[in-house]
Amino acid sequence: MKYQFDQIINRRNTDCAKWDALEEVFGTKDVLPFWVADMDFPVAEEIKEALQKRVEHGIFGYPNESEKVFQAVAGWMKRRNHVEIKPEWIVLTAGVVPAVQYAIQAFSKPNDFVILQPPIYHSFFGATRATGRQILENPLKLENGQYEMDFAQLETLAAQKPKIMILCNPQNPSGRVWSKEDLSKVSDFCNRNGILLVSDDIHSDLIYKGYQYTPALSLGEETRDNLIACYAVSKTFNLAGLNTSAIIIPNEKLRTEYKAFMRSVGAGEINLFGLLGTEVAYTCGDEWLEEVLTYLEGNLDYMEAFLKENLPQVKMMRPESTYMTWLDFSALGMEQKELEQFLIQKAKVGLNSGTTFGRGGEGYMRFNFGTPRALIKEGLERIKAAVDGLSEQKK
Ligand SMILES: Cc1ncc(COP(=O)(O)O)c(C=O)c1O
Repeated sequence: MKYQFDQIINRRNTDCAKWDALEEVFGTKDVLPFWVADMDFPVAEEIKEALQKRVEHGIFGYPNESEKVFQAVAGWMKRRNHVEIKPEWIVLTAGVVPAVQYAIQAFSKPNDFVILQPPIYHSFFGATRATGRQILENPLKLENGQYEMDFAQLETLAAQKPKIMILCNPQNPSGRVWSKEDLSKVSDFCNRNGILLVSDDIHSDLIYKGYQYTPALSLGEETRDNLIACYAVSKTFNLAGLNTSAIIIPNEKLRTEYKAFMRSVGAGEINLFGLLGTEVAYTCGDEWLEEVLTYLEGNLDYMEAFLKENLPQVKMMRPESTYMTWLDFSALGMEQKELEQFLIQKAKVGLNSGTTFGRGGEGYMRFNFGTPRALIKEGLERIKAAVDGLSEQKK
């Protein structure tokens, strides 16, 4: 391996949310953080060098979205995802959450319905509510320990004439990778009912062995014509701080309207470093990505074995992708708030609470394992000691 992911690098006092916002989020600095979705690993050498070289230049005036970045996105999509896209289909935005919000605003009106499938990435709730739209829920079903979509319930939602459906593929918080069949059914439902499909595929480069990611973009023209597909280097290459995303909108009319909406709210300029980071990551990041995936899979194996052996009360939904795992603490028999406080105060770990992700999150916590294994060990040992303490109390 060229990269060393075991090394613990101090991120405190680097203006990073994960380590520097602990007091704000958990009410104490004294927790080991496994929450917000970025990794505690340095980026690929090629990216660091390109950014360093650009910093050396010393002039940071207005950027230009050159052809190179669009070619890099299209090249990545072809090389990794086997889909041909045209560079002109790509719209760059300062993040996927803003991109989703632009889609909601550009293609629906206040009070219109937007379909979400909870438990799901919490910012989709915020993006929908902040724009005055209403949420229609199509809750995921738990079947044999994995989430499945409830297509029968989805059909019943059409009566309310929703305008948009937001899909998360792969799914956050569970890491579920939706099958081609699932995607075809969702796309067919949307097309039949005049609902725009917004597919957030931000985690799609982080797929574990044995699983296959299907881009909605690969399903054919009918799907593509009614699709906004969101990609970014932020999760894949640990570049969330560069705030740059590639939104792929094949339908020219939709794309024109989307861009017009962005102009109307003054959202257009992409950060110089985001442009460069995106271009270099998608051009030279393959090796780093393969290595980080191997390391992450090792973390997963470690967690699974640890929990089985030492903490069988906590059940892990083994993710098929990305670096978050959905831990079921319901066997502890605590209310959600009690569970949150227990983990903060007794275990001294900072996880995302399951209910943040909406319906179905009760009893769960999301654990980010994109961190050196030694920190995972420390975190799990802290949780084990706290859980062991519960039975001591009962004696
Ligand atoms: C599904 C999903 N979409 C979007 C984001 C955030 O995207 P951005 O930082 O580009 O707004 C996250 C971050 O965790 C995510 O999990």
